[in-house]
Amino acid sequence: MRDFVHPGATLWFTGLSGSGKTTVSNILEETLKRSGYKVEVLDGDVVRTNLSKGLGFSKEDRDINIKRIGFVCNLLTRNDVIAIAAAISPYREVRDSVREMIGDSFIEIFCECPLEVLVERDVKGLYKKALAGEIKNFTGVSDPYEEPVNPEITVFSGKETPEESAERIIQYLIENGYVDDDMLHRSYKVA
Ligand SMILES: Nc1ncnc2c1ncn2[C@@H]1O[C@H](COP(=O)(O)OP(=O)(O)OP(=O)(O)O)[C@@H](O)[C@H]1O
Ligand SMILES: [Mg+2]
Repeated sequence: MRDFVHPGATLWFTGLSGSGKTTVSNILEETLKRSGYKVEVLDGDVVRTNLSKGLGFSKEDRDINIKRIGFVCNLLTRNDVIAIAAAISPYREVRDSVREMIGDSFIEIFCECPLEVLVERDVKGLYKKALAGEIKNFTGVSDPYEEPVNPEITVFSGKETPEESAERIIQYLIENGYVDDDMLHRSYKVA
């Protein structure tokens, strides 16, 4: 006999480059794993070096990339894993198709951050290049980004710390039965 198995979920981050998808995902991954949950992160940058190697940044290639990530998230979710997708995923239609495939356990997290803040941050030095016209098809500068209409959670990475954003997501998971409050607190005490 197994103990109660928590339900899987897909935490689908979407937002411009530098908006905090990877940073917040990593905090969530660490916190949840420490508490005994099975977690897998599919980060856009990593996926593009293996699962989606060779794909570019046209709309068609971006959509293929998102469908692949969505496909894997669905497999993980139905096996009680918390799958975290952290890719820009700029197009609403393909995000919604992944939502439809996964169903109720699809949790869309919009990383909202004003473009001025992202340009100022310029973590990877890409905005400078994009604004200088050295990178074509750069989301938010020379390529579209379609904001989610009704995301389950919006994090404001221009105003909150990454820890505050992660905490709000954890609260959502507790309130919606994906994560058990006691289990989290127990492991905090152990740590
Ligand atoms: N509240 C916040 N949430 C997340 N990141 C923040 C926040 N405040 C500041 N930051 C900083 O913003 C940067 C976010 O970069 P990160 O690589 O996580 O973005 P990303 O959305 O994964 O971008 P990309 O699409 O290029 O991979 C980090 O340097 C992080 O320290
Ligand atoms: Mg990232």
